[in-house]
Amino acid sequence: MIELRYPMVEDAERFYEILNNIDTTYYYATIPDSIEMEIKWIERRKYKRENKLEYNYAIIYNGKVVGGCGLTIYQEYDHIGEIGYFVDKYYSGKGIATQAVQELERVAFEDLNLGRIEIRMDPRNKISEKVAIKNNYIKEGLLHNAVEFQCNYFDYSLYAKTKSFENKNLKYI
Ligand SMILES: CC(C)(COP(=O)(O)OP(=O)(O)OC[C@H]1O[C@@H](n2cnc3c(N)ncnc32)[C@H](O)[C@@H]1OP(=O)(O)O)[C@@H](O)C(=O)NCCC(=O)NCCS
Repeated sequence: MIELRYPMVEDAERFYEILNNIDTTYYYATIPDSIEMEIKWIERRKYKRENKLEYNYAIIYNGKVVGGCGLTIYQEYDHIGEIGYFVDKYYSGKGIATQAVQELERVAFEDLNLGRIEIRMDPRNKISEKVAIKNNYIKEGLLHNAVEFQCNYFDYSLYAKTKSFENKNLKYI
């Protein structure tokens, strides 16, 4: 069982360590190059939360920080949130990201009253895709050149779930 809690400045070193060891081949996010940079990132989370922009969490497993996850609210359509996650490579394959998505979903639909959640990943990021599928997210399409990262464009597979979704009769595309 995992728990989610808001990140604290004390987590900076651990986040730095985890993020500098994960497989970033298909992970288009900035990796902190110092603990100070990570502290600044954590300090801004309160502002992001209070302004309903982002809800970030540390993932706790057996009392230890083993990853991070979050919900980013789309500003033009604020009933939509996008989930993101990363997990310490030494803890991979234990279902931690899968459980983190379940918990974020509860926060999104019950606490924040969002109507739709998206998970986007590079189509080659098969592990991340598995996390979405295991949580019954439905693939809605492939977004070409959807992300620009380090001067390159990459495609994204779009997975989504809506609040009153019944996916029993739908097939993955
Ligand atoms: C994607 C990521 C968060 C998955 O975390 P995780 O806690 O290991 O995921 P889970 O344990 O919930 O695993 C989901 C599935 O992937 C499988 N899996 C996890 N790590 C794996 C690995 N290294 N190789 C093969 N399969 C793997 C799991 O076994 C599970 O499948 P199963 O139920 O059929 O056994 C993690 O690999 C990661 O941080 N990657 C780098 C960052 C990233 O790409 N984030 C997503 C950006 S969209």
